[in-house]
Amino acid sequence: MASPRNSFLTSNDARLVRARLIRPEDPRLRRYGTAALTVALAALVRVLLQPILGYGLPFITFFAAVFLTAWWLGFRPTIFAVALSSIVAGLLFFPPPASRQEALLTAIGLALFIAIGVGAAGLGEGRLRAQRQAEREADESRLARQSAEDLALEAEEAAAQAEESAAQAEEHALRLAAVVDSSDDAIVTKDLDGTIRGWNPAAERIFGYSAAEMVGQPIFRLIPPELMDEEHDILRRIRAGHHVAHYETTRLRKDGHRILIALSVSPLRDASRSLIGACSIKRDVTGQRQLEAQLRQSQQLDAIGQLAGGVAHDFNNILAAIAGYVGLVLRALPSNHPARVDVLGIEEAAERAASLTQQLLAFGRKQVMQPDLLDLREVLDDTGRMLRRLIGEHIHLAIQPGAVLSPVLADRGQLSQVILNLAINARDAMPNGGRLTIEARDAPLTEEYADNHIAVAPGAYVLLAVSDTGHGMTPEVKAHVFEPFFTTKPRGKGSGLGLSTVFGIVKQLGGHIFVYSEPNQGTTFKVYLPRAEGSIAAAPGRATTPVEGGQETVLVVEDEPAIRGVIRRLLEMSAYTVLDAGTPAEALELAGSYEQAIDLLLTDVVLPGMSGRELAEQLQVRRPGLTVLYMSGYTDDAVVHQGRLDPDTAFLQKPFAPDALLRRIREVLGPGDSNAGAARA
Ligand SMILES: Nc1ncnc2c1ncn2[C@@H]1O[C@H](COP(=O)(O)OP(=O)(O)OP(=O)(O)O)[C@@H](O)[C@H]1O
Ligand SMILES: [Mg+2]
Repeated sequence: MASPRNSFLTSNDARLVRARLIRPEDPRLRRYGTAALTVALAALVRVLLQPILGYGLPFITFFAAVFLTAWWLGFRPTIFAVALSSIVAGLLFFPPPASRQEALLTAIGLALFIAIGVGAAGLGEGRLRAQRQAEREADESRLARQSAEDLALEAEEAAAQAEESAAQAEEHALRLAAVVDSSDDAIVTKDLDGTIRGWNPAAERIFGYSAAEMVGQPIFRLIPPELMDEEHDILRRIRAGHHVAHYETTRLRKDGHRILIALSVSPLRDASRSLIGACSIKRDVTGQRQLEAQLRQSQQLDAIGQLAGGVAHDFNNILAAIAGYVGLVLRALPSNHPARVDVLGIEEAAERAASLTQQLLAFGRKQVMQPDLLDLREVLDDTGRMLRRLIGEHIHLAIQPGAVLSPVLADRGQLSQVILNLAINARDAMPNGGRLTIEARDAPLTEEYADNHIAVAPGAYVLLAVSDTGHGMTPEVKAHVFEPFFTTKPRGKGSGLGLSTVFGIVKQLGGHIFVYSEPNQGTTFKVYLPRAEGSIAAAPGRATTPVEGGQETVLVVEDEPAIRGVIRRLLEMSAYTVLDAGTPAEALELAGSYEQAIDLLLTDVVLPGMSGRELAEQLQVRRPGLTVLYMSGYTDDAVVHQGRLDPDTAFLQKPFAPDALLRRIREVLGPGDSNAGAARA
């Protein structure tokens, strides 16, 4: 068996070669049979020629048989044919030897035939071998050519495939690069020792360094000094093949600012899977965390506000009763009575309690306000005069009202309260003097600003900014300043209600307040109030009405018996005729059965079964022209919507002093008793 010459021939090719070239010898029967058949044919032809040839040329046809056999069948079959021919010719075509000479000639003839036959066998064998060799070589070369062609084709295909996969790889790489480039997150790759190798555009934005500045630099440039260990730990974990997932930490920007980032780091491996570095994805979550903190703070303030407002409301009713009875006692006591001083003490305490309740109500956004279109510059002008006395000589006060300023819809008293509270805080933050600046100007809030601040709607605002150069605040203080009763002042110096009042008022006006402060860097409070449309009318001068009684009939509706009692006493002492009821139903019944005129309905707003407003409407149907004066300590009701009074509504804020009630009644009824009897049944 021949082994394939070329190593690139497959075993299949080798089998082919063997089948085609190294042909196994034909079966013996076929070879020798063919030889015998040829000899038989030669014998037949010689028999047919017998009449012509007689006993001459006995081998003539057998030569042909032997040559043909030699040509086609090779050595051995030819020898077989020679032998067979000699026998057949000897038996059939040799005459019985007539003489020794003839026998010799016959023997010579036979020997010659055998010799020529053997020679032909040798030549035939040689020819066959040469032919087989040539065939084999031709086949081999054809196969080799074929293989070469196949190989060339394969190589071509491989090249095409390689080209295609190179193109695919390039496209893939391009797509990957596009993803990295367009990512909003910083994608940074680094070596195992922390040398930066990749820095995408988002990393440039977030950290402020360009790729040219950072590639090749140690990652430690971004790490705050106290967090170096953390980065070493990350690298250690990466070298151990671990991931570091979703982790929040602080990093340094190029400008030195610290930012809060969320990061995850994964090991980076090459094509052979060996560890070559790390890839980290970093997101700046500073703004998000600030927003969350703002949201938490505002929710917390809302909750405390609701609580404070609720407590203040109930407390207000009690105070109204205390103040009322104190007023009655003071009226009854002669001016030289020794108990007067004590009662005055109670009155003063009740007043202090009332002002505290007002602050709590303000914080809870429940204070009743009477908003007017106001020019903040005017309010600043008024308040400024008072401020200069309040803050003292050691502080330089600069009031900078903008040249043009849009009006705001607000309660003048409340706005002064905001300015005063902020200014007094600023004064307290500058015990050794400094500079207090109060600025007012139009300041639109942009969409971007609104996106970064909880509950801020973009739009036109008027800004009131109060800045000082005082001791500033730590982040912890800053986080709590608007909470009621939060104070850093010594006991007795501050109640911690100043800023919560400011906060409540600003929120009630639909505005926003922000504080900017660093320790020892001073403080700025920025108050944004929504700009109001319209022009400012000249404020009507409010003439003070004297405290006096009257002859009219007043229907008092109040569900708190203590308050009802004190009001009744007070009005009766001032010569009014008083009807009183604890519920609207009672009031309607009373008014129905009362035959005389009722001049004034003095009613609480929140009543059982029906609001004071509904009661007033029903009574006014029966008694047209009935004057109504509402009283309430609370804003969440039918008359005072979100703290704003309906226009043309007469209202008295609880708790009130006796004089305030008497004065207000005269204001709504008009002087003296001139219109008594206007609303007769
Ligand atoms: N301009 C400021 N500079 C530094 N700290 C301030 C400033 N304004 C307020 N603060 C801090 O906020 C705290 C709360 O202020 P807030 O006005 O609510 O209460 P207070 O001034 O302590 O007491 P109150 O105003 O009721 O008399 C203060 O105790 C102070 O620590
Ligand atoms: Mg204060």
